[in-house]
Amino acid sequence: MPASASNEMPAADLPPRTEKLAASIRQLCKEYRLSSGSVVALRDVSFDVPEGDFVSIMGPSGSGKSTLLNLLGCLDRPTSGGYFLGTDDVARMSDDQLADVRANRLGFVFQSFNLLPALSVLENIELPLHYSGQLSRTSRQRCERLAQRVGLGDRMDHRPMQLSGGQQQRVAIARSLVNDPRFLLADEPTGNLDTSTTAEILDLLTELNNEGRTILLVTHEPEVADLTRRTVVLRDGGLIYDGPPTGARAALQATAVRATASEVHR
Ligand SMILES: Nc1ncnc2c1ncn2[C@@H]1O[C@H](COP(=O)(O)OP(=O)(O)OP(=O)(O)O)[C@@H](O)[C@H]1O
Ligand SMILES: [Mg+2]
Repeated sequence: MPASASNEMPAADLPPRTEKLAASIRQLCKEYRLSSGSVVALRDVSFDVPEGDFVSIMGPSGSGKSTLLNLLGCLDRPTSGGYFLGTDDVARMSDDQLADVRANRLGFVFQSFNLLPALSVLENIELPLHYSGQLSRTSRQRCERLAQRVGLGDRMDHRPMQLSGGQQQRVAIARSLVNDPRFLLADEPTGNLDTSTTAEILDLLTELNNEGRTILLVTHEPEVADLTRRTVVLRDGGLIYDGPPTGARAALQATAVRATASEVHR
C-alpha cells in the first residue's frame, strides 16, 4: 500500500497547476539492459517541480534516486515517459541540444566533489568555461566572485588536497554556478561530510534557493530533507510519497520494515 494515495492518481486527473514549472516528468521509466538480464531502475514516476522549489529525493539504496537525478540532469535518456524542462520537451532534443542544456541551464553537485586535483580552486571553478571555450577576463572575474561567494576568497590558489571536505564541496557548488543555472541537481552533496560541515553546505544551498534557484537533492539523511520544502520518496523505482519532509519518515520506515521482512523470508 503506497504511503500517499494521491500519488496513485493518474497525471491527467491531477488539478491543473498555475505556477511556472522548472521541470515536469510523466510516467518516467528507465530500464538498464545488460547481457545478464535487465534492471528496471525507475517505473512510471510522475511529478512536477515548480520554479523555486527545494525538493529532497529519498529512498533505500538501489531505489532509483541517482537514476532519476541523471535523467533530470540530461546525463541519460529515459526508456519511456516524458520530461519537460520548463516547456521544452527533453525527449525530442538532439545530443547537441542536451549538451547545451547541461552546460547552460543545469548545475550539478556530486557526493565525491569531482574536483581535478592538479588544478587550483579558481581553475576548478573555471573548468566548465574552459571546456566550452568561454574563458575570458570577465569570466575569470566572475569565477573569483563565485569563490568569494562560497567563502573561499582567500583559498583561490589552493589545490583540492589542501582543503577540508566542506571547502571542496563549496568549490564544487561554485563550479556548478558558473553559468548561472536556475536549476541545481545535487546527488548526496553532504554524504561525505560531518554534521557541522553538512550544516554549512545546507546553508549555502538554502541561500541559493532563496535567490529563486530550483534545487533537487538526493539524501539519505532525514535531517537534511527536513531543510527542504518537499520530499519525494522512491521504493523499487516507484514513487511512494510526495509531500512535506516530515511525512516522508513514515514512508521510509515502511520501506525499512519491508526490507527487513524480505530478509527474514530469504
Ligand atoms: N548503469 C547501470 N547499469 C545497470 N544497472 C544500473 C545502472 N545504474 C544503476 N543501475 C541499477 O538501477 C537501480 C537503481 O540504481 P540507483 O543508482 O539509481 O540507486 P540509488 O537509489 O541512487 O542508490 P544509492 O542510495 O545506493 O546511491 C539499482 O538496482 C542499480 O543496480
Ligand atoms: Mg545513488
